[in-house]
Amino acid sequence: VRKLFAIFGVCFSLSAFANPIVIAHRGASGYLPEHTLEAVTLAFTQGADFIEQDLVLSKDGVPVVLHDIHLDTVTDVAQLFPDRKRDDGRFYAIDFSLQELKQLTVHERKNLQGKQVYPQRYGGKAGFTIPTFEEELELIQQLNRQFGKNVGIYPEIKSPAWHKQQGLDISVIVLSILRKHKLDNSSANIYLQCFDFAEVKRLRLTLNAKLKLVQLLAENDWQESDSDYDRLKSKEGLADIAKVAQGIGPWYPQLLNVEQYPATLTPLSSQASALGLEIHAYTHRVDGLPAGFSSPQLLDALIKQAKVTGVFSDFPDTVVKYLQQ
Ligand code: G3P
Ligand code: CA
Repeated sequence: VRKLFAIFGVCFSLSAFANPIVIAHRGASGYLPEHTLEAVTLAFTQGADFIEQDLVLSKDGVPVVLHDIHLDTVTDVAQLFPDRKRDDGRFYAIDFSLQELKQLTVHERKNLQGKQVYPQRYGGKAGFTIPTFEEELELIQQLNRQFGKNVGIYPEIKSPAWHKQQGLDISVIVLSILRKHKLDNSSANIYLQCFDFAEVKRLRLTLNAKLKLVQLLAENDWQESDSDYDRLKSKEGLADIAKVAQGIGPWYPQLLNVEQYPATLTPLSSQASALGLEIHAYTHRVDGLPAGFSSPQLLDALIKQAKVTGVFSDFPDTVVKYLQQ
């Protein structure tokens, strides 16, 4: 009996102190333009556990790694293809073939007025390009093989309803790629995420996805999807999520009140944990911290107070270092 207690004690103490996973948000995007293969390679070398891929489709139905359905804020599309904007003045990835997308140069994110969003980040003009999802998969698989590591992938299906309106089914296409690479199983080192709850349910219940799913949480006024995030954040909504997904991906102010230091907890993390859901919070940025918080103080609040099981960070090296200390 004493032995059993000892084993239980060791297991308990290990799980009580289990580190959250470090998810490189758009690669090591705090240092190199987001979603480029260079930012992915840097995230790999910085010790991230997972590397994130936001996915949208090209005109010919190829998933490419881009955060937005638009191209204007991270590429030189307006210089190369000035006549290809829609009536709203925006350039859409889905209006360009993969061969055309490959001609674009990727730069650090700018706003629509052309000002760099994070002024201290990468300011150079090297020839970064848009990777396809499969190119990035191959890169991570090869680096894993060569360095004897097991860094996972964390793709996000972007705007599935919008893609359907444009005539393409992004979930079916992404899932077929994941199946081709034998990644659609519950033990594969991957989380598939989406903001659209109808699509998360469709992935699990209609498309029979077997891999781990994460329901992202937004606020209703962001208009990310038709999902009702007020309901999804409630006890009942979380219970619905737990029927089809392994975790939630909340914006960290949904877990913590960070208007002033120290943070106080919202009910979200305890309610999600009680249902056995993983909690992967976004987004830790050392150049975008809440007023009055240092980076370690924010990480302390997320990890020790909210007990998140994963952190999305633009600066994965800083989270790795924090966890080592
Ligand atoms: O997917 C987690 C986080 O990236 C969600 O926000 O807008 O950066 O994709 P976003
Ligand atoms: Ca994302």
